[in-house]
Amino acid sequence: MSKIVTLHDKDFEIYISQDQINTRIDELAEQIDTEYAGKMITMIGNLTGAFIIMADLCRHLKTPVDIKFVKYSSYSGMESTHVVKERMGFGGMDLAGRDVLIVEDIIDTGLTLHYLLDLMKHKEAASVKVFSLLNKPEALQKDVSVDYIGFDIPNDFVVGYGLDYDGMGRDLNAIYKLKE
Ligand code: IMP
Ligand code: MG
Repeated sequence: MSKIVTLHDKDFEIYISQDQINTRIDELAEQIDTEYAGKMITMIGNLTGAFIIMADLCRHLKTPVDIKFVKYSSYSGMESTHVVKERMGFGGMDLAGRDVLIVEDIIDTGLTLHYLLDLMKHKEAASVKVFSLLNKPEALQKDVSVDYIGFDIPNDFVVGYGLDYDGMGRDLNAIYKLKE
């Protein structure tokens, strides 16, 4: 696996390996299986970033899952726009009585998640929990809690495993961070 990748005008260096990610997903899947024993999980992935971790997580779980996607975004290039835009909403999704697990690639300011959780309040779900592959505690601006976190990371810009820099890098098999 290459240690440095160039996307557009920037270099990125390897930060979290595929092995580390796999091990961590295994641990979290085991915890989730225990906590949801006897239930079915309605996983709602937030596109586009969540597509890889969603595919991994659902295949590591033994618990039955129903897979759904929405698309809410707040990022442009390497910065938060501080405005959440709905690209593909919940529409007529019936979530009443469901055990919902929202799946995100990363929590940065927490704005997107806060917005999503607000919308979930009207859906009469039996429970709502959140899974995120990455979490940047130092960047958090909203009071949101994440139930399952792959890795807490510093306030660095990262790509790979679903995360992009202006459309590039989502297909990288590990997490890379901006090279100083
Ligand atoms: P938030 O609303 O600020 O929490 O931002 C969450 C969204 O911003 C994520 O779903 C990502 O799409 C994007 N994002 C935040 N940080 C990064 C990063 O370091 N690299 C790539 N995308 C990011
Ligand atoms: Mg995203």
